[in-house]
Amino acid sequence: MNRRRFLGTSLAAAGGAVLAGRGIARATAIPEGSLMQEALETPGAVPQAQIAAARFPEGFLWGTATAAFQVEGAWKEDGKGESIWDRFTHTPGKVKGGTTADVACDQYHLYAQDMALAKRLNQKSYRFSISWPRIQPTGTGAPNMKGIDHYSKFLDTMLEQGLRPFCTIYHWDLPQALEEKGGWPNRDLAGYYADYAGILAKHLGDRITIWAPFNMPWSVAYMGYGVGALAPCRANFDDFLKAAHTLALAQAQALRSIKAASSKATVGSAYGMCPAYPKTDSEADKAAAARYHAMNNVFFLEAAMKGSYPKAFVGEPPFDRMGVRPGDEKIMHAPLDWVGFHYYTRRIVSDASHAQTFSGGGFSGTEIEADPATGRDPYTRFRAEMPTEGPLTESGLEVWPRGMYDLVTQISREYDHPIIEITESGCGYLDAPYEKENGRVPDARRIEWFRQELAELSRAIADGARVRSFHAWSLIDNFEWGNGHTERYGLIYVDYRDQKRTIKDSGLWYGRVAATNRLV
Ligand code: FCB
Repeated sequence: MNRRRFLGTSLAAAGGAVLAGRGIARATAIPEGSLMQEALETPGAVPQAQIAAARFPEGFLWGTATAAFQVEGAWKEDGKGESIWDRFTHTPGKVKGGTTADVACDQYHLYAQDMALAKRLNQKSYRFSISWPRIQPTGTGAPNMKGIDHYSKFLDTMLEQGLRPFCTIYHWDLPQALEEKGGWPNRDLAGYYADYAGILAKHLGDRITIWAPFNMPWSVAYMGYGVGALAPCRANFDDFLKAAHTLALAQAQALRSIKAASSKATVGSAYGMCPAYPKTDSEADKAAAARYHAMNNVFFLEAAMKGSYPKAFVGEPPFDRMGVRPGDEKIMHAPLDWVGFHYYTRRIVSDASHAQTFSGGGFSGTEIEADPATGRDPYTRFRAEMPTEGPLTESGLEVWPRGMYDLVTQISREYDHPIIEITESGCGYLDAPYEKENGRVPDARRIEWFRQELAELSRAIADGARVRSFHAWSLIDNFEWGNGHTERYGLIYVDYRDQKRTIKDSGLWYGRVAATNRLV
């Protein structure tokens, strides 16, 4: 019997810390020749009838997300200091296509236009990040008021356009001067970072009520210091462990300094998460998937909520090598007001306890685990792969809508139904303006990607998850880190030659979704 003829989504919720089986769970057979059958030719696809029936609650906050380094440009304007990503992109051989983000989307100058476009798409929330080296060019000391003024005007513009400003305090662009002081493995950075966060809350906290300290802290530590795939490109496991601990301390210290400076502040997160499915039913693979979840998804969430780390390690946790000191549990403990995370794709995880060297997936855009020549770290000992059962986006990530449901319901269950913000979700496809159709951008694959993922999000909400917002990555095409301009995630096309913006068909569609709370 052809497995694709079966319903691609199951109503069975995944149980425990580990998600149930990796394959397509199935509930009902689809009659031959039916409408649904066509959609189901794609493994993992959501039936069209489910998409048509999907609804979102009144007041749901439809949004988009960007990051300072990826959109702003103006890399040395108004007193901005150098960041580790300026250093990375200015190093020959690092960026695909040899481009830099010196200009990027020039949003530093064009923000008014971009916020007007967001309003045109009926958006209610805009997740942006602040560039630390614009505020403190060398990472410490008095704020650069030109930087503060810029964000102040930017915030006013967002509010005028009816957008809720959702501020990410750190989306990867560490001041280079702090990297020279040892970077995130240096525990002192927690204090510097809390000062920086306090400065933001003091100057901008009258208008920002939603703060996320870090975008994807696991990636900052592991990809930046453990395997060298992201700036500052160090590959040392001790540095990874130390960086992770500094980030956990920093997250909590920042929460306290923000709240001390702004009574309106609520603090949550913008974690990168992938639902982890064990490769086989063996206890060893289930335990490995649980370690993946603990390390890659909820390490920093547990640290904040409980003041302790989850069981991410085989055997005794390497607290010495992490630089954990007595009393740190208290410092790390800072319960979040809401929980924010991204969803792009899933992982299949297996036990690697007995492997000598481990090889995982290569690095491709969004946080796919990379392993250095010496292999995966000796502490977590799992192998995580991105399967290719479903189709791939042009950026190379598997399309697996069911993962959205599984992840949202898992976090909801494990953290007692917190308020959830989906901080990022999206897909990379290269569609461009089509001359024969008056220059419109017919990006049907992106529309279908969002229809499928959002149908699964709607199902999670119907099943009780308290999801308050969804931020599509991204409002506009932008500079995709080491992949430069070779990937496009925007709902709006950017021509980097003249900065012309063209709303893609997906943007127009997303605007209708935002207006109707339906996947029209
Ligand atoms: C996420 C990052 C974001 C962007 C998207 C495609 O992992 O947070 O900056 O690169 O992937």
